[in-house]
Amino acid sequence: MAGSTLKIENLHVEIDGSEIIKGLDLEINGGEIHAIMGPNGTGKSTLASAIMGHPRYDITKGSVYLDGKDVLEMEVDERAHAGMFLAMQYPSEISGVTNSDFMRSAINANREEGDEISLMKFIRKMDNKMDELEIDQSFAQRYLNEGFSGGEKKRNEILQLLMLEPRLAILDEIDSGLDIDALKVVSKGINSVKGPEFGCLIITHYQRLLNYITPDKVHVMMQGRVVKSGGAELAERLENEGYDWIKAELGIEDEKVGEEA
Ligand SMILES: Nc1ncnc2c1ncn2[C@@H]1O[C@H](COP(=O)(O)OP(=O)(O)OP(=O)(O)O)[C@@H](O)[C@H]1O
Ligand SMILES: [Mg+2]
Repeated sequence: MAGSTLKIENLHVEIDGSEIIKGLDLEINGGEIHAIMGPNGTGKSTLASAIMGHPRYDITKGSVYLDGKDVLEMEVDERAHAGMFLAMQYPSEISGVTNSDFMRSAINANREEGDEISLMKFIRKMDNKMDELEIDQSFAQRYLNEGFSGGEKKRNEILQLLMLEPRLAILDEIDSGLDIDALKVVSKGINSVKGPEFGCLIITHYQRLLNYITPDKVHVMMQGRVVKSGGAELAERLENEGYDWIKAELGIEDEKVGEEA
């Protein structure tokens, strides 16, 4: 099966009555890797959560389609079942649920009843993927993310990605907090699932991750919209020159943090 095509049109999202996403368009064709960059507070994480169906976010206008299916009509678990996955910027800690139990439930939730993964298969797969990501086996029996360091949480998000094998993943600042070696390990993990069956939206602030994972397209998000799109060279220009030239090009005024646009 080919990777999923995600098509977002004129999306508007509100949080507690204030509009954060203001008419966003984005299309990711099956198997493509796209990156979104943009200043703090422009709505990148809001976009990710809204697509995944976080109840806090009100979608007031627009559409999100996955392979022609209306995502906004789907329940949260149906979105996962349809092959969508989000690696969160701030992964939650869940006390009392081991990493291993969590992963197994997540895999089985995406499979039909009676077709659950066997314990043996699951353990073998988890062992392999943990080795691949250089995660110590002891992490399987620790409570989900509890007491994990920042970088360990990020690595664990990629472990979930490798275990769940989604067809469309959104990775929100997966590179933040990773040390230099961990960045390579995590990139290697993502590259290992790259291919026609896997589409990916990478939210990042820095070009360095894109040195390892070459994006097909790079988008700049500002004030709740995609304001510019280009190839991998766009990320390099942003790294060198920042966002001022785009603001000047588009006539966007500087905002203070927390100010309504
Ligand atoms: N639950 C919430 N309640 C109130 N405001 C919120 C909430 N979630 C997000 N916001 C606001 O929405 C705006 C966009 O936040 P978001 O986290 O999407 O930004 P971002 O682009 O991911 O930024 P960063 O690069 O810093 O991660 C911010 O101004 C933020 O304060
Ligand atoms: Mg964010």
